[in-house]
Amino acid sequence: MPDFTVLSGKAEDLSAFVSLTDDARNLIMEACHGRSAFSGIDPYGLRKEIEGLGFLPEDGDGWERTAAKLRSAVIPNMLRTWSPDYMPHLHSPALIESIAAELIIAAFNSSMDSWDQGPAATEIEVAMIKGLLRLYGYDEGGDGVFTSGGSQSNFSAIACHLNSFLLRRYGHDAKKEGLPPFYRRLRLYTSSISHFSMEKSAHMLGLGYDAVVHLPIDSSCRIDIEKACGIIRRDIEAGLIPFCINATIGTTDFGSIDSIDELRGIADEAGCYLHADAAYGSAAIMSRTYRERLGSLQLADSVTIDFHKMFLLPISCSALLVKDRESLDAFMLHADYLNREEDEEDGYINLVGKSMQTTRRFDALKVFISFSMRGRKGFEQIVDTAIGNASCFYSMIRDDDDFITSVPPELSSVVFALRGGDEVNKKARRTLLAEGIIIGQTVYQGMTMLKFTLLNPALGRDRIEELVQRLKELRTSRC
Ligand SMILES: Cc1ncc(COP(=O)(O)O)c(C=O)c1O
Repeated sequence: MPDFTVLSGKAEDLSAFVSLTDDARNLIMEACHGRSAFSGIDPYGLRKEIEGLGFLPEDGDGWERTAAKLRSAVIPNMLRTWSPDYMPHLHSPALIESIAAELIIAAFNSSMDSWDQGPAATEIEVAMIKGLLRLYGYDEGGDGVFTSGGSQSNFSAIACHLNSFLLRRYGHDAKKEGLPPFYRRLRLYTSSISHFSMEKSAHMLGLGYDAVVHLPIDSSCRIDIEKACGIIRRDIEAGLIPFCINATIGTTDFGSIDSIDELRGIADEAGCYLHADAAYGSAAIMSRTYRERLGSLQLADSVTIDFHKMFLLPISCSALLVKDRESLDAFMLHADYLNREEDEEDGYINLVGKSMQTTRRFDALKVFISFSMRGRKGFEQIVDTAIGNASCFYSMIRDDDDFITSVPPELSSVVFALRGGDEVNKKARRTLLAEGIIIGQTVYQGMTMLKFTLLNPALGRDRIEELVQRLKELRTSRC
């Protein structure tokens, strides 16, 4: 059993801290050698190895033996997100400085609910939110909060807009009374290829999936504005009540970007809120070349930003910004044991009043450290590399008879297929997985397609060429 528990200034605690974090670093560094993203082990084999590690020994195994377990079965089978051969999802490698930031976050274990649980943490989050509001074009009337991810940012936005909509339009206080009797007529509009957090949010807010209307997309995988306009007008005539439209600024599969400018016009006509789910696309704000592609984000009533996607910060790290600070009142509630009003009047900010979470991680520190270290230009380089790689891959396969392409990439994802049918593509993905090359799979126009989500700035053009060749081989050999 170890003779140390928590950090303190005592020599033995500090020495345990140094030795364990050194060992952890060594374990990580051993895994950095080699290029593949994954050991290629099959799920049954891995399950058996993990089960063999045991659960809760009566007497602890101590650090040495526990580290040996990590070394034998866990670390070798961890997904190495930093491998340029890992590209199936919007799941990024972590910037090196942000790994150091995680150590600070874990060591201090600040919590964001009340000022007395994280004084510097609270002030850093407040400062980062102010900066983000400026970056995304909102004025001082706005506000925001860090969340656990895009899903929670989206959920929070929809909850806030539903609350404000019912209060402003009907004088109905949903916080107190719950949903109004006419709740079955409330509608949330979003593209047919938007993230499923829209449906989850509608369900968890008591509206149900049926409250979500999927708007058709055009040939560029963006909401078809003319059709959207017609659908919403007809719904209003039929007595339905639009309370929010969601614009996806970077769809999960294609990276396609809905037009904020045009959807703003539709939302105004319908008298509802406009949310921008920029979980994917938000990082492109850093790029002078590509930021125009995002459209006028400042026209949206709220925006979801994910730092654990194209910004390359470790999970979890996301923020929701709102144009009108009162929107976040949906989460305001005082408790005698936590966030007393008298303290807030004296300048002690308790962020719990803006969040659905109580205990919450100090994720804003990662943004602070990476922004401070790299500056806008550092992130511009990262974003430009990712988008440039996607264009490069797309141009290599566009005119090649072995491939079928979908839409040209706006961000860093390319959806494509090998000619030969669904089975050829499914098999190709599995064969690559066993080789430690992990690519995505989705469906486009009824066909099984493959997907490269290129977030890793370490991916070079040579490797992209090699991957194209390997895919061609797999098609010829039918895997
Ligand atoms: C467009 C979009 N919105 C929201 C999300 C959800 O984000 P998270 O996984 O951080 O909850 C994703 C995830 O990929 C996404 O692609």
